[in-house]
Amino acid sequence: MEPPSKEKIEACLENFSSDTRATVESWLAKNIKFFYNEKRSLFTKYQDQELHPLAMCELYGTVLDKIDRDGTILDLGCGVGYVLKFLTETSPFRLEPFGIEKELEKVEAVKTEILPVFKKNFEQCTYPSCKLSKKEFDFIIVSVEGADLPALESRIRPGGKIFYNEFGDVKHKLGDAFTTKLTEMKASGYEQLPRLQRTDFPDRTIYMKKIL
Ligand SMILES: C[S@@+](CC[C@H](N)C(=O)[O-])C[C@H]1O[C@@H](n2cnc3c(N)ncnc32)[C@H](O)[C@@H]1O
Repeated sequence: MEPPSKEKIEACLENFSSDTRATVESWLAKNIKFFYNEKRSLFTKYQDQELHPLAMCELYGTVLDKIDRDGTILDLGCGVGYVLKFLTETSPFRLEPFGIEKELEKVEAVKTEILPVFKKNFEQCTYPSCKLSKKEFDFIIVSVEGADLPALESRIRPGGKIFYNEFGDVKHKLGDAFTTKLTEMKASGYEQLPRLQRTDFPDRTIYMKKIL
């Protein structure tokens, strides 16, 4: 698999603000190798391989724009950790990343090659039976199905934020229950983050709530 062409990178980044764009572009140039390294088998399940890193950067650029202070950031269901790598390395604020992931192979990848400096902050366990290593966080990204959002919100310091990933496959599985859940989330203060360009891939929507 070839890394994406310059033109594709250009098209994907054109909607960022100029500051964010410059940061994201240089991060991508330095780190694209993490998406195409010898552990490539971890990443090959995506249907649009060439666009995947770009689409992820574009999607998480919207989260990047909402990070507004130094602090700790937990990704619950962190996978191989490239979202945390992206945010930690591109944010103008100092972020300490933490992650929980049920698949051992992915946790090992984070600890050995994606974010080795923070390896003590990553744990293999299956939510909800995980003991979170810190009592409170400034930001939490929720990437697992069926998370107890109020319980997680209570672990966020005032002024912090929770980002909830709604994945297409989960949404379809929930059907009508999804509409009910979304109504409840919106009533409790969640707002949908805008997608910058593509809305189809990756098939997910991010909702954010600021904790008062
Ligand atoms: C779609 S990936 C998201 C990865 C990354 N957070 C991102 O946003 O790109 C979801 C990850 O959550 C993990 N996961 C799913 N359910 C989990 C659970 N109950 N506890 C811990 N990890 C879980 C999966 O193994 C997978 O790596």
